[in-house]
Amino acid sequence: MRRMAHPRLRGPEGRDLRAEFEREGYLVLEGFASAEEVAALRRRAGELVEAFEPEAHSVFSTKNQESTSNDYFLESANGIHFFFEEEAHDGAGRLKQAKHLSINKFGHAAHDLDPVFRRFSRSAKVAELLRTLGQERPLPMQSMYIFKQPGIGGEVVPHQDSTFLRTDPPSVIGLWWALEDATKENGCLWALPGSHKAGVARRMYVDQGKVKFDREPQEHGLEGYVPLEVPAGALVVLHGAVLHMSYENRSSQSRHAYSMHVIEGKEGVLWRPDNWLQRSVPPEPLLPSSAEGLGG
Ligand code: FE2
Repeated sequence: MRRMAHPRLRGPEGRDLRAEFEREGYLVLEGFASAEEVAALRRRAGELVEAFEPEAHSVFSTKNQESTSNDYFLESANGIHFFFEEEAHDGAGRLKQAKHLSINKFGHAAHDLDPVFRRFSRSAKVAELLRTLGQERPLPMQSMYIFKQPGIGGEVVPHQDSTFLRTDPPSVIGLWWALEDATKENGCLWALPGSHKAGVARRMYVDQGKVKFDREPQEHGLEGYVPLEVPAGALVVLHGAVLHMSYENRSSQSRHAYSMHVIEGKEGVLWRPDNWLQRSVPPEPLLPSSAEGLGG
């Protein structure tokens, strides 16, 4: 069977994506998602938000992670759950702005449960990229649609994704697609090049239904972080151990993004039983490009 390299994976002349990823801990691939794919994901996210009835809800905060210790969060591993921005509600508990401008994100299984997100997440070019980066059996574990709302989009403090999604040995790769232009003004990602080489500093786990950490967060400065300002359609690939963050969005522009985290699913790699994310049905690996038939 003939296997074609996707043209986007070759990048600029001479760019060795795997070597660059291993050296820097991240990659920026502009134009990975087509304008049609971006529009389809944004349209579908709008429909899901429209259908969402905000009764059971939760606030997402990277500063106060106690607030994530609830069933609605833990059960989102197997559903599409909505989390509000920290500043979404007024003192009386009412939304300060419209629902679609108040939600921080939804997660964590749209890549499996929703047909539009599923088709994009499992497209041949995604599987091929992960194999190019060394994964033998790419296994998507979670996805998030992140709104980074105008005016109130919360900051995401410096972290490593492998803190939250642990395999032994570590294997997480984060895929983050800009669905709108991401700029310093509206809260683009920032990454610390090479920081993945120091390994994973801290781990979150669940003990008797409570989210805990094995150590306190490390204090460190923000020297050396580089802004990843990218146009809509760009993919940012993040090594599970690379430090990254984003500032709050005080601009009038939202910064929508779709992210998915994929682990190595081959035999011998263990998904830790005390990870917060536990699927009720086994996750499905991405099929090899030759078996997908979806094209680019
Ligand atoms: Fe992250």
